[in-house]
Amino acid sequence: MKLAITGKGGVGKTTLTALLAQAYADAGREVLAVDADPSPCLAGALGFPAELREKLHPIAEMDELIEERTGAKPGTVGGFFTLTTRVDDIPERFSILHRGVRLLEMGSVDLGGSGCICPESAMLKTLFTHLLFRRDDVLLLDMYAGVEHLGRATVDFVDAMLVVVEPTRRSLGTAVQIKRLANDIGLMRLYLVGNKVRNRDEEKFLEQEASEIPLIGFLPADLKVQEADRLGIPVYDHVESLKLSALQITEKINALTSDEVLE
Ligand SMILES: Nc1ncnc2c1ncn2[C@@H]1O[C@H](COP(=O)(O)OP(=O)(O)OP(=O)(O)O)[C@@H](O)[C@H]1O
Ligand SMILES: [Mg+2]
Repeated sequence: MKLAITGKGGVGKTTLTALLAQAYADAGREVLAVDADPSPCLAGALGFPAELREKLHPIAEMDELIEERTGAKPGTVGGFFTLTTRVDDIPERFSILHRGVRLLEMGSVDLGGSGCICPESAMLKTLFTHLLFRRDDVLLLDMYAGVEHLGRATVDFVDAMLVVVEPTRRSLGTAVQIKRLANDIGLMRLYLVGNKVRNRDEEKFLEQEASEIPLIGFLPADLKVQEADRLGIPVYDHVESLKLSALQITEKINALTSDEVLE
């Protein structure tokens, strides 16, 4: 099953990705979590210890690897480089496993048509497509805000896109924009997750206003989320209410996707 997690900046994409990753791993699933944010922070949210985090580097910043695989120096535009570069060994070589979650940091990836024609962009696109073709049990993609960077390959292989929203009109407005953009490129299966929800009124607000996209769950607002960050421990371990909500969301996702043949 392949899920892309998106939404407006700061709504809780990384928090949700980390929660779902640990929930699936604890359920015995094999999880590959991909941090596709230019400033990666999924490792922190997953509570990777410092010695493991030191070993993680975004693929987008691995100049030597990019040059070795494409035959061209990153940052160069034009000239010749190999587009059919080998990437199948990259996920295993450069990801780090901790508590059942394998984490790969991609760095900034532009999969849309607007990206530069440079070696690093070509290699990341190839790697991303490779990830989508792989038969991972559970693949979670922590995207950066918006979907402009998503290309056709994503659409064909992502089973669903989760759009995280806060109980605000602004955040719902972004969700609707994301839906339009996703629909434009053919991705129809989008689900909303309400985050930082403080009370029943906020839940009702999201239920009423979210009519365009099915709402599959809520994560409560909890100051312990920031505390977990300060203490360097995963939200999953520190905030029981969010863990329980995340477990419910995984059940909902499983039910929604079980009637289809998902590898
Ligand atoms: N349920 C919650 N309750 C309280 N605070 C939360 C909750 N979820 C997330 N936060 C806080 O909101 C901030 C943003 O969360 P997070 O990094 O998960 O969002 P994001 O969408 O990944 O952000 P970005 O767009 O920068 O990648 C963090 O400081 C996090 O601690
Ligand atoms: Mg994030």
